[in-house]
Amino acid sequence: MKLSIIGTGYLGATHAAAMSSLGFEVIGIDVDPAKIELLRAGKVPFFEPGLEELLLQEVNSGRLKFSTNFADAKNCEIHFICVGTPQQKGSLAADLKYVESAVDAIAPHAKAGSLVVGKSTVPVGTAARLAQQLVELGSPAELAWNPEFLREGFAVEDTLRPNRLVVGVTSDRAENLLKLAYKPLLDNGVPWIRADLATAELVKVAANSFLATKISFINAMAEICETTGGDVTVLAKAIGYDPRIGSRFLQAGIGFGGGCLPKDIRAFMARSEELGAQQSLEFLREIDSINLRARQRMIDLVRLDLDEDLKGRKIAVLGAAFKPDSDDVRDSPALDISDQISKAGGAVTVFDPKANANASLRFPHLTYAASIEACMSGAEIVLHLTEWKEFRAIDPIKAKSLVARANIIDGRNALDREAWERAGWHFRALGRATR
Ligand code: UDX
Repeated sequence: MKLSIIGTGYLGATHAAAMSSLGFEVIGIDVDPAKIELLRAGKVPFFEPGLEELLLQEVNSGRLKFSTNFADAKNCEIHFICVGTPQQKGSLAADLKYVESAVDAIAPHAKAGSLVVGKSTVPVGTAARLAQQLVELGSPAELAWNPEFLREGFAVEDTLRPNRLVVGVTSDRAENLLKLAYKPLLDNGVPWIRADLATAELVKVAANSFLATKISFINAMAEICETTGGDVTVLAKAIGYDPRIGSRFLQAGIGFGGGCLPKDIRAFMARSEELGAQQSLEFLREIDSINLRARQRMIDLVRLDLDEDLKGRKIAVLGAAFKPDSDDVRDSPALDISDQISKAGGAVTVFDPKANANASLRFPHLTYAASIEACMSGAEIVLHLTEWKEFRAIDPIKAKSLVARANIIDGRNALDREAWERAGWHFRALGRATR
């Protein structure tokens, strides 16, 4: 079977390399010639553990090719649409222009009997509209939806060993074709769920809404702990032992960011309003504001430690990516906090093991250090904002000799508090009383 992957960002590049590694002939298509050039050379334009090795292996095998020309996909049985659906400027809704133009571009080349399969996250009802778009364009291809649940940092693992495969289809033929494409995964026991188009679209936003809710729940508990002298890390551990609750995604801190969770819950709210069902998702507004409040609470702690005076104060920020093992800085809480502190007059120096370059493109006014040591040097306060393992491995005794004042705030509740306090640091964390 021949497959095309339209859009070669995090999702598409990973899907292309993964499907090729299953033995299919794959053509990755993107409108960005620079990106295609890199991918052809076996280079990944972003940091994702394990992906470059897999990509290079597949390009060298001859199964995986890349092109900017949609006509090169004409013999494919399945066309996977993996383009972005970012938040629209000035609105909560998702911007669907890339999905729509991908369908427009592939329609004249998709052969009879082929499938156009959306993997992008879209508002419910989009797939049905795109199916109609195919008909109006005179395309013989059939539309299906197959949401993707991959996490950045684990993209290859999540694509080759997903915890479920969900397909929204309108015919047995479409389901069978997709089963063939995913046969190696199904043979490994991955659960298969057949749904209608609307349910398949909803599964993705429901899953991300649930995850966002879990994080904001524990961050709301962190707020309560701060006013009552409790410790949210102990609370999370204790409730997490109940298997109905589970311990994952209960890490309190500066909250969620990235290219998915924030925009997906906002797009879901916007869509529910269009549908007249806003009441059902009203709680997501609160999830969003708890999440943004966590960033503000972090800034409040910095102000407290610096006696409300940020002007010219040397502040070291450890972390720029929205999460570790990624160089993605989209809606990164770490950078939002750094930016706000800098705008209030703070002299902010940021270090991230992988995301300095991306961060400096978006926030050129911040200073970027080339190492942990350079970042901390002379600082009056250190903020731990992305929980890279490199930061957990910092020796607090050595680090103390670098800074002007041994103040640290753990915005991710991931550092060994006892070790830092033993070394003489004044240690604060979100959701934990200061000793
Ligand atoms: C998410 C979903 O997990 C994935 O299934 C979907 O396909 C895309 O969106 P991703 O954006 O890669 O994946 O990141 P995720 O691991 O979910 O983390 C999102 C954010 O939540 C990060 O900023 C992370 O730091 C934060 N987070 C996560 C917390 O603050 N606390 C937690 O306990 C977990």
